[in-house]
Amino acid sequence: MTAPTPSRRLASAGAEPVRVPVPLGERSYDILVGRGLIDEAGPRIAALGCRAAAIVSDTTVAALYAKRLSASLQATGVRTATIAVAPGELSKSYETLAQVCDGLLAARIERSDLVVALGGGVVGDLAGFAAAVVRRGVRFVQIPTTLLAQVDSSVGGKTGINSPHGKNLVGAFHQPSLVLADTALLDSLPLREMRAGYAEVVKYGLIDDPHFFEWCERHWRGVFAGGPERDEAVARSCRAKAAVVARDEREDGDRALLNLGHTFAHALERMTGYDPRRLVHGEAVAIGLCLAFRFSMRLGLCPGQDAGRVAGHLATVGLPTRLADVPGGAGSADALLDAMAQDKKVKDGALTFILARGIGQSFIARGVEADAVRAFLEEEILAQS
Ligand SMILES: NC(=O)c1ccc[n+]([C@@H]2O[C@H](COP(=O)([O-])OP(=O)(O)OC[C@H]3O[C@@H](n4cnc5c(N)ncnc54)[C@H](O)[C@@H]3O)[C@@H](O)[C@H]2O)c1
Repeated sequence: MTAPTPSRRLASAGAEPVRVPVPLGERSYDILVGRGLIDEAGPRIAALGCRAAAIVSDTTVAALYAKRLSASLQATGVRTATIAVAPGELSKSYETLAQVCDGLLAARIERSDLVVALGGGVVGDLAGFAAAVVRRGVRFVQIPTTLLAQVDSSVGGKTGINSPHGKNLVGAFHQPSLVLADTALLDSLPLREMRAGYAEVVKYGLIDDPHFFEWCERHWRGVFAGGPERDEAVARSCRAKAAVVARDEREDGDRALLNLGHTFAHALERMTGYDPRRLVHGEAVAIGLCLAFRFSMRLGLCPGQDAGRVAGHLATVGLPTRLADVPGGAGSADALLDAMAQDKKVKDGALTFILARGIGQSFIARGVEADAVRAFLEEEILAQS
C-alpha cells in the first residue's frame, strides 16, 4: 500500500470533475467524481460555510491522506482537527461512536461546522452517525476512499453502527452536504478491497441497466487500472444510486432493489463471523449476486445463460461466486437459512428477496417460500461438493 506519487497527482489534477446531483429537496447535494479532488477539498468545503471541520478517518487512511486534506482546508482558513479510529468493521461500535462524538466536542465542533468522513464505508457510516447525533445534528461531507464507499455507502444518507443484535441496527438517515469521490485515492487500495467494491458496481447493471453490465464486461480492466473507465464506473454507479435514493429516500419501496444479492450476502457474513480474513462485504455480495441469479433460474424466472454470464464476469475479475469459495465453508443450508431469517423478516415461513428475470431485470419478490430457498441451497452445496 503506497501513497500516490506527487508527479501522478499533478498529472491528474486540473480536469473538471463529473457532477452527479442527488435531488432531495432541501437535503439535495452533489457528488463530484474525479482524480485529485482531495487537494481541492478546502475551497469546496469552505464554500458550504464553516469555520471548523473535523476529519474523521481510520488510522490507515489518515496516515495516507489526512495531512493533504487538512492542508487544503487550512489554506482556506478552516480550522481542522483529526480523529482517527482503528480500521475495520469493529469500529462501527457504541464505544467508537462515543470516542468520535467526544472527539468532535473536544475539537469544539459547533452546529454550523462540519464533519468530514475520510475513509471507507466503516468511517462513512460511523462519522455520519456521529454527525447526526452530536449537538442534535451537524452537517457532514463524505470523502470516500474505497471503491465500495465511492459507488455505494457514501451516497444516500444511511449512517449507523452495529449492535450485538446485528449489523447496522442503530443509526439514522443523515444526508451528506457534499460527496467528493477522488478516484485517485483508490490507487493505494489493496486489490482485494478494489474487487470487493467492484461487485457493487456490477450490481447496478444487474438491477436495471443491462448496457452498463455489458460495459463492465468490456471495460473492467480500465476500472482497476485507474484509467478514465474508473471515473466513468464511479459516476455511472453514483447516478444509478442517486436515482433510486431520489425516488425512495427511506427505503419504503424501490430502494430495496439495491439489496440485490444482499440477503444471501448478509447470511454469509454472519456465518463467517464478519471475519475479514474469510470474507469481506463485497466478496459476500459477489457470491450473493450469483446465488440470486441461480435461484431465479431455478424458479424458472431467469435464463441460465444470464446466470452464467453474471458468475463468469465476477470470476474473471477474481471474485468468489459459489458457496464453496467461502474459506472455511459457508455452513449447511439450514444454518444459512437461519442466518437469513435473522436478517430479514420472515412472515409465515416466507422471505422477501430481490430476484431477476434476466440481467438488468431485477424485482422485489415477496412471499418466497423458505422451503424453496432451502432446497436451492442444498442443491448448490451438493453440486459443489
Ligand atoms: N451506508 C450505506 O449505505 C452502506 C452501503 C454499503 C456498505 N456499507 C457499509 O460499508 C462498510 C464496508 O465499507 P468498506 O468496504 O469501504 O470497508 P472499510 O471502510 O473497512 O475499508 C476497507 C479497508 O480498506 C482500508 N482503506 C480504505 N481506503 C483506503 C485507501 N484509499 N488506501 C488504502 N487502504 C484503504 C481501510 O483502512 C480498511 O482496512 C460496512 O460496514 C457496510 O455495512 C454502508
